Amino acid sequence: MKNTKHKTSKFWNNLYKKNEIFWDLCAPTKPFLDLISYLNLEGKKVFIPGCGNGYDVIEIARLGAQVYAVDFAEIPLNNIRNNSDFKNLNIKLIKSNIFELKQIFSEKFDYVFEYTCFCAIDPSDRKKYRDLIYRILKNSGKFISLFFPILKPENNVGPPFGVNLDKTLKLFKNNNEFKLLSIHKEINSNPERKGNEVLVVLEKNG
Ligand SMILES: C[S@@+](CC[C@H](N)C(=O)[O-])C[C@H]1O[C@@H](n2cnc3c(N)ncnc32)[C@H](O)[C@@H]1O
Repeated sequence: MKNTKHKTSKFWNNLYKKNEIFWDLCAPTKPFLDLISYLNLEGKKVFIPGCGNGYDVIEIARLGAQVYAVDFAEIPLNNIRNNSDFKNLNIKLIKSNIFELKQIFSEKFDYVFEYTCFCAIDPSDRKKYRDLIYRILKNSGKFISLFFPILKPENNVGPPFGVNLDKTLKLFKNNNEFKLLSIHKEINSNPERKGNEVLVVLEKNG
């Protein structure tokens, strides 16, 4: 029978409890830092799904954005709350399954920043994930994703589940829902992930 434990908050919270957070780089995502240095995020509404310990949440909020960070595991959300900068920044922490987000989040965001949430969800939920990103972005809103691990076959055991780049771009461009603005392969990746991730910027077609 197929293992679906990774669909539960308990599975992820336990990994945080046991400190088996092999994905956690303990720092903001460098390819995002390089990209956001060109963006004016002041006052912009930004959504971060599966935010984990929230290094990007803090960094993007420091640039003046209103950041809505979602995770269904309690421990990383508490870790963000305990960051000394948290109370001075415009951050809303939402403890929820991303697939159960309320209607009030529809067409609300200028940007979504995604790193290692897409590979954490079950591949059978990827269409649902695409629909979620489409729903919550404003028209012309940008989905900025560092897709990882692009070298791992999709049907191998996960998480992380492999990300086939061509198939994933097709998924987002399906029915013209998103327009591909740029793909960046020469990026400042963590050395262990070099060549195994790609930065993609997609725009919601309104
Ligand atoms: C691999 S971790 C990545 C965390 C963070 N993005 C990072 O790069 O450090 C995946 C995160 O997504 C969360 N997550 C997985 N599925 C989720 C879902 N359906 N709804 C909300 N959060 C989810 C997990 O609790 C976990 O914190």
